[in-house]
Amino acid sequence: VLYVDHNATAPILPAVRDAIEPLLGEAFANPSSPYGAARRVRERLEEARAQVASSVGAAPSEVVFVSGGTEAIEAALWGVAMGGEAERPHIVTARDEHTATLSVARWLAERGVAELTEIPVDADGHWTPADVLEALRPHTRIVSLMHANNETGVLHPIAEVARALGGRATLHVDAVQTWGKIPLDVNQLGCDLLSLSAHKIGGLKGTGALVVRGGTRLEPLIRGGLQERGRRGGTENAVGIVAMGCAASHLPERLRQAPAIRALRNRLEAGCLTQGDARINGTEPRVGNTVNVEFAGVDAESLLIRLDLAGICASSASACTTGTARPSHVLTAMGRTPAEAMGAVRFSLGPEHTDQDVDRLLEALREAVPLARE
Ligand SMILES: Cc1ncc(COP(=O)(O)O)c(C=O)c1O
Repeated sequence: VLYVDHNATAPILPAVRDAIEPLLGEAFANPSSPYGAARRVRERLEEARAQVASSVGAAPSEVVFVSGGTEAIEAALWGVAMGGEAERPHIVTARDEHTATLSVARWLAERGVAELTEIPVDADGHWTPADVLEALRPHTRIVSLMHANNETGVLHPIAEVARALGGRATLHVDAVQTWGKIPLDVNQLGCDLLSLSAHKIGGLKGTGALVVRGGTRLEPLIRGGLQERGRRGGTENAVGIVAMGCAASHLPERLRQAPAIRALRNRLEAGCLTQGDARINGTEPRVGNTVNVEFAGVDAESLLIRLDLAGICASSASACTTGTARPSHVLTAMGRTPAEAMGAVRFSLGPEHTDQDVDRLLEALREAVPLARE
């Protein structure tokens, strides 16, 4: 199988399997229990916390482990919206955000808990810091923006937004699609909250982290016990957390491969454009692994079935919305018509890919695109 869907999830690293093996056997104790066997599990959790923290330039005490990117984002939006004095705080986000963000923000707005402004994106998938500033109101409490878009790979200018905001609102960044693709540093980004997901970098699904910078006011989304210093209740997912720490510790290696991945992506993209009547959605700056290509007159679902039969795994939009046969909200926000958006597929590469893989994919497209056009 040729797996070119890294933005949906990445293969689990062999080192991660080795790291979690003991936790599936004798190291099963509850890390909060008062005996040596539990303390040894606790030590592994704290090691993982330090590994995740160091991968983004944060302090270990700023890392709160949660059940994934979706929970991290909900904990950030809900936790800030609920955590202040003003009634009906104002939230700013953007039209191309992941549904993890949009669904919470819209739910809070529909319930009358918050007011919401969604900034638009242009035809190339970008917004500007000026768009964010324009959306601000006196009672804006949180600005929640993604660092890179999962469908197009478009990178957003977070550090500039942070400088422009100058602390007027809490800044949350969904960095799920940049972690492991470009170097990340919370100090350089200047954000207050950062969401991460383990399974996009070779860890396990169902584990993530919310990085909470010192001084950020946040109501816990999940109360329960005093785990995670009272910031997220529930017995810790020790296996997932140790896996996440291990995957984070391998990021320098992954980042060293980024230029090679970008070169493969560029070759793939150039090859896609020779299929006739094709265009790339999203312009630079972008993360280097993602191709969003739209083939005119093609039904992406039928193209993906043909690729699947050829042993190639790729997506049409974000995996969470596949199966619903609705055009991507990201592409329609960029001004594509529903029919155009339905003709777009996404290929996302990872460190295991080679020139031969790109050749194989292009060969498969040469056969499948004309058939999917009929
Ligand atoms: C940009 C973005 N944000 C959030 C998420 C949600 O992360 P998770 O799958 O860990 O809940 C994803 C993954 O689909 C994503 O691509």
